[in-house]
Amino acid sequence: MATGFILKGQVLSFSGSPFDGERPEDTARLQEAVAVQDGLIEGAGTLAEMQALLPEAATVDHSGKLIMAGFVDAHVHYPQTAIIASWGKRLIDWLNSYTFPEEMRFADRAYADEIAARYLDLTAAHGTTTVCSYCTIHSESVDAFFAAAQARGQRVAAGKTCMDRNAPEGLRDTAQSAYDDSEALIGRWHGVDRLEYAITPRFSPTSTPEQLEAMGALWGKHPECLMQTHLSEQTDEIAWVRELFPQARDYLDTYEEFGLLGAKGLYGHAIHLEERERHRLRDYGAALIHCPTSNTFIGSGLFDMAGLMAEGQRIGLATDTGGGSSFSMLRTMAAAYEIGQLRGTPLHAAQLLWLATQGSATALRMDGKIGNIAAGMEADLVVLDLASTPAIAQRAERAEDVWEAVFPTIIMGDDRAIAETWIGGKRV
Ligand code: GUN
Ligand code: ZN
Repeated sequence: MATGFILKGQVLSFSGSPFDGERPEDTARLQEAVAVQDGLIEGAGTLAEMQALLPEAATVDHSGKLIMAGFVDAHVHYPQTAIIASWGKRLIDWLNSYTFPEEMRFADRAYADEIAARYLDLTAAHGTTTVCSYCTIHSESVDAFFAAAQARGQRVAAGKTCMDRNAPEGLRDTAQSAYDDSEALIGRWHGVDRLEYAITPRFSPTSTPEQLEAMGALWGKHPECLMQTHLSEQTDEIAWVRELFPQARDYLDTYEEFGLLGAKGLYGHAIHLEERERHRLRDYGAALIHCPTSNTFIGSGLFDMAGLMAEGQRIGLATDTGGGSSFSMLRTMAAAYEIGQLRGTPLHAAQLLWLATQGSATALRMDGKIGNIAAGMEADLVVLDLASTPAIAQRAERAEDVWEAVFPTIIMGDDRAIAETWIGGKRV
């Protein structure tokens, strides 16, 4: 029987969404300590309470630091790790110049293993404990990623990226092979340890109607799986979708028609949405994934966080590595804040931290297990040093409350702000 650990510091948890109600900070709670045993959170409270709960446990002193749920990155492309920060004109140009040639390399299992390990090491160093990743069309790329996450005891979702048109030779499957390979991967990985499969048609431009139909049929057969894709990222992409699917009412309809709209659906970007699309997404309880560093880096547009939250959409936050320009969810929160400012709707620090944890966990339908600190939740934690650089420290010193103390780290912080990352109750 493990004796567990107690982490002492400022333990941040949420009792609800800071987007509901007048004052975002009212749903947040700060406690003195959190107790961890056998991979799970035993409880949070005063140090004395936690010591009574786990009398044998060692206490790790993080006084002055912020202890919270590990970051949940709801949309990434791990195969794009090595081409992050590549210059490109627009989305389609960037895909063709950098992304597709790099993704071609993942037919080689050894290369996929190398990048999967590199990616999970980098993200853990940035405080990220769960990601939902696209792989490449190669089953090897999925096996590599799940094996690496399994070895780390990590909760991740991932899937084989399916494309059967408008992609180069060597990076195309077919409707049938996409169905068969995805189903074999579901059988091999879904529900094993902390791993979940996400059915992954890349986006409408790279799938024929036949492939979208096959993916819809697969999701119908495996409703336990997530389904992830891209939606309305750039205006020229939307125009292309209109040409490719002249009968569709809008971009979302190209998914909806084939059974690819659902509550466990994750729609990356979702910037330029029409009224009908917003209604349908909300009615289904589908999740929109905001990827702010990607949206500014590729020049896609300004996500309407305030408007979409106000109408009751489910929203997660993500880096979109490597279209996104960072592995860091701190940098991602800063970009979300900046986009909010450009739209005249700034986000509170509590809202940013919630989005990066419980918001994304809710989008991934994992909020019963991760994304918050509460008894029974899995012990994925991050310890934030709120004075990690001289520039941040001198500003945080003036802070009058925890929100002012953490905000400079959100805006200026990077992996130096991550004092510790805990995955499944183990320090990594
Ligand atoms: N749309 C389709 N594929 C991609 C991708 O890899 N990155 C981004 N940002 N958008 C996409
Ligand atoms: Zn993406």
